[in-house]
Amino acid sequence: MNGQIDSQSAETLRLGVNIDHVATIRNARGGRHPDPLRAAHIAIEGGADGITAHLREDRRHISDSDIARLKAELTRPLNLEMAATDEMVSIALRHLPHACCLVPERREERTTEGGLDVAAGGDVLRGVVSRLKDAGIRVSLFIEADEKNIEVSSEIGADIVELHTGAYCERALEDDASGVVRELERLSRGSQVAKAAGIEVHAGHGLTYNTVKGVARLPEVIELNVGHFLIGESIFGGLTAAVQHMRALMEQARREA
Ligand code: PXP
Repeated sequence: MNGQIDSQSAETLRLGVNIDHVATIRNARGGRHPDPLRAAHIAIEGGADGITAHLREDRRHISDSDIARLKAELTRPLNLEMAATDEMVSIALRHLPHACCLVPERREERTTEGGLDVAAGGDVLRGVVSRLKDAGIRVSLFIEADEKNIEVSSEIGADIVELHTGAYCERALEDDASGVVRELERLSRGSQVAKAAGIEVHAGHGLTYNTVKGVARLPEVIELNVGHFLIGESIFGGLTAAVQHMRALMEQARREA
């Protein structure tokens, strides 16, 4: 089953939980434990609105069979993060996730370091977006929050942009207060431009309990995707509690906005 989320109010802020790093721990020893599908069920019980998984080219965490099992068994929408390659498009067309988020991928990076260069990748991306959309998959582009990226994303037919919150989170880690304000302003402007262009706005990367509220306060943002921090926190207090606490902070921020 693959639940639908589009009927929710646009004002609701959804939480997508990325379970990649459950697979990272499993893969450190091989075998089947801990199982990302079990983590996905627990995240949903804790209040996740959807599950995100990134099938990387080098399969360093999530595997092809994880995607098949997630798609077959999840009771909430699956958001498949992937590079815009022929291999990944054919996997997406086979499994038909609720949404695909196209991300840049470099083999040597630890995580997705920057957003897509949509202007440079225009023609390839346009083709990938249209193949996925023709199959009924909602398509998101993971981008830095600048106007040119948003304009091209709209022009090539993306349903959604996911704004990269990595720089904002890094400034927060460095205790760079003016950098935090500057990055939040950039995210805020980008959200407004995207919404005005008729694109749904998501955000994510690097978010923690300390940084989530700044992004959750932006009224145009209707989904946050959070992974590494939640899986890390779950070591100390369990995944249910981590997801519940993240949701509570998001809702608090929304009420305060
Ligand atoms: N959104 C996108 C597009 C990502 O690539 C990632 C990382 O896989 C995330 C959100 C989640 O980032 P993090 O694991 O740092 O919370």
